Amino acid sequence: MNADSLGFSMSVLLAGLAATEALGARIAAGLRAGDAVALKGDLGAGKTTLARAILRALGVAESVPSPTFTLVQTYETPCLVVCHYDLYRISNPREVDELGLEDALEDGVALVEWPENAGNRLPHDALTIVLTATGAESRRADVAGPARWAPFLSDAALAR
Ligand SMILES: Nc1ncnc2c1ncn2[C@@H]1O[C@H](COP(=O)(O)OP(=O)(O)OP(=O)(O)O)[C@@H](O)[C@H]1O
Ligand SMILES: [Mg+2]
Repeated sequence: MNADSLGFSMSVLLAGLAATEALGARIAAGLRAGDAVALKGDLGAGKTTLARAILRALGVAESVPSPTFTLVQTYETPCLVVCHYDLYRISNPREVDELGLEDALEDGVALVEWPENAGNRLPHDALTIVLTATGAESRRADVAGPARWAPFLSDAALAR
């Protein structure tokens, strides 16, 4: 693990859906091929909602269903191919190999709900977001990742 992999962390209160969408747009702005975004949090915490916001900001106009049953949905955005995973039903991390995560990360982006079920298959420099419900419409997002995310996700960037 290099120093950059621990370089950025922040905790932000998302007062409502608009704030979650704004966070998604900032994440989208910083994404590049090879990036993994680990979306953690309890059932209903907002992982799919945030993934949807990222995909919308990347230009996905089609509907973005939760990959609860398909396990993975793939989107060709104008800039990047994005694979959206939901690993809730995965019981053995080896099943993740069959879902093409490695290929997805070769030249695209993976948004991964329930990354805990992937064992050590996510890159160490994944951007990790832990969502916690703090009210009906409010969430806390605890974000950590490489230092290169700071310009996209710092308080000042989110207020833009
Ligand atoms: N600020 C907010 N951010 C995200 N979701 C919110 C917010 N406020 C309310 N919600 C609602 O919370 C719900 C979050 O559901 P979502 O499917 O995104 O959760 P999830 O973490 O993906 O759950 P699962 O583990 O079942 O996949 C949605 O109904 C969404 O509208
Ligand atoms: Mg979900």
